[in-house]
Amino acid sequence: MNGNGSTRREFLTLVGTSTAVLVVAGCTTNQTAAPPVPSGGVFAQPAESHSVDGRLAVTLVAEATMVPLGTGTRYAYTYNGSTPGPTLRVRPGDTVVVTLQNRLDTDTNLHTHGLHVSPTGGSDDVFVMVRPGGEHTYTYDIPADHPSGLFWYHPHAHGHVAEQIAAGLAGAIVISDDLDDITEITASTERLFILADPSIGDSKAILATSQMGRMQGREGDIVVVNGIVQPTVAVVAGTLERWRILNSSASRYYRLALDNHQLHVIASDGGRLTAPVTVSEILLAPGERTEVLVTPIAAGSNRLRALRYDRGSSGMGGGMGGRASTSTAETVIATVNVTGTAAAAALPPSLAKLSPISPTITATRTVTLAMGGGGGMGGGSMMAFTIDGKSFVPGRTDITARLGTTEQWSIRNTSVMDHPFHLHVWPFQIIDGPPTSGWKDTVNVPARSTVTIRVTFTDLPGRTVYHCHILDHEDLGMMGIIDVTP
Ligand code: C2O
Ligand code: CU
Ligand code: CU
Repeated sequence: MNGNGSTRREFLTLVGTSTAVLVVAGCTTNQTAAPPVPSGGVFAQPAESHSVDGRLAVTLVAEATMVPLGTGTRYAYTYNGSTPGPTLRVRPGDTVVVTLQNRLDTDTNLHTHGLHVSPTGGSDDVFVMVRPGGEHTYTYDIPADHPSGLFWYHPHAHGHVAEQIAAGLAGAIVISDDLDDITEITASTERLFILADPSIGDSKAILATSQMGRMQGREGDIVVVNGIVQPTVAVVAGTLERWRILNSSASRYYRLALDNHQLHVIASDGGRLTAPVTVSEILLAPGERTEVLVTPIAAGSNRLRALRYDRGSSGMGGGMGGRASTSTAETVIATVNVTGTAAAAALPPSLAKLSPISPTITATRTVTLAMGGGGGMGGGSMMAFTIDGKSFVPGRTDITARLGTTEQWSIRNTSVMDHPFHLHVWPFQIIDGPPTSGWKDTVNVPARSTVTIRVTFTDLPGRTVYHCHILDHEDLGMMGIIDVTP
C-alpha cells in the first residue's frame, strides 16, 4: 500500500523545494520495510467501560506496546495496552474521571474531542502537559442536556499530536440518551468503526516522518478498523445495522461507500439529525464522525470501501499544471457478509428535535487558513502553516468572544490542500458548506474555498483552541487560541 511515492514527488516538485529533500521524503514510507499485510480478520470492537450511577472513573496508561497484526505484531502507542483504547460509555449528566499516566518518552495529555465540557478547571484543558513518568487526573462534568453521539479522546500536546495519534493513541466516547430508545434503534445491532492508518514496523522508527510528510500530513502503510485489517462483518438480511464511524487518522480522508447498499445517516459529529438522510457515500475528514443505519439486503460479500479522494488540488503553482499531492487510492476497509434473503428492515421515520441555532448574530469573522512559502518555520524549506497569518503561539489569544453570544465565521482556505477545521468545546452548524443539518465540531474546508459556520457560546467560558485536524498541520502551527469570556 505504499502508493504515495509518486504523489509525494509531484507535490515536492510543485512546491519548488530542493531535490535534497526529495531523497529524505522518498525514504520515509519505504524505510520501514512493510511486512506482508494480513487481511480478513474478524470484526471486533474495543474494550468498554460504562458509567455506573452517573460516574465513570478510569485510568489510561499511555505507552509503547507491540500489538497484534494478523499472526504477527506491530509497534504502536497504546492506552492500557491496546489501540484503539477502551470505549467510554456514558450518559448526559455523568461525571467522568480519567487518570492519564504517561509512560511515553515525550509529553502527552488528553483532549475530549467534541465534548461540550469546560476547557478549564481540571476538565478539558489542553494546555496541561503530562511529563514522561507523570500522571494527571481530569474530571469532566457532562452537562445534563449534552447531545448523545460519538466523541473521542486523544492527545493534544502541541508538536507531538500527529505522531502520537498516528502511533495509536485514540479512543471513543459514546454518550447515549433517549435516541437509543427509539424502537427501530433499540432493535438494531450497534457497531463502532474506528478508522486509522498506522505505519507498520517493529520499532519506533515507524514514527519518523520527513518534512514533506509533515507538510502533506502523514499517511500510514495500512488502514485498520478497530486495529484490524479488513475485518469481515457478519450481518443478517432484514435486520438493521447501526454503525458509528470515527476517522481517527492523523491526515487521511475516507470517502466511504458500501457495495449494493445505501447509507442512512442519523448523526454527524455530535449532532443527531431530525430524520435519516440517505446517501451513497460519506466523506469523513480527520476528526469527523458519522452514524449510519444500514439495511442489509444483498446476500453475499459487500465491500466497505474508501473511494479515491484527492485532498490536494490540481494546478498548484500557477502554470505548472498537474496534481499537487495526496490522492488516496481506493481501499477496502472491511467486508460485510450478508446472510439470508429478507427484505430491508424499516428505518425510524424520525429521530429527534434539533434545536435551531440562534438567528441573532453578534459578530462575524473571517478565519483564514493558509500555507505560506518556505523559510517561515523551522528553517530549511518548511513552509508556514497559519491561521489569519500567524502560526500558533501558546501565550497569545487570537479570538475573544463573549459568553452567551452567537457568531458567524467564514473559514477561508487560500491554500491548495483541504484543511479540516475544528473548534473545541462549542459546537457549530454549517451555514454554507458540506450539507448537513446536524451539529458539527469539525468541517472540511476544501482547497481554495470558504465554509461558513455559526457557533454559539451559550455557556462554559474559558480559553481553548481551534485548528486544522490534519494533525501535522496543527503541530506545524495551524492553530489559534480562543478565549470566551463572561
Ligand atoms: Cu481532535 Cu484539538 O482536537
Ligand atoms: Cu477537539
Ligand atoms: Cu491542514
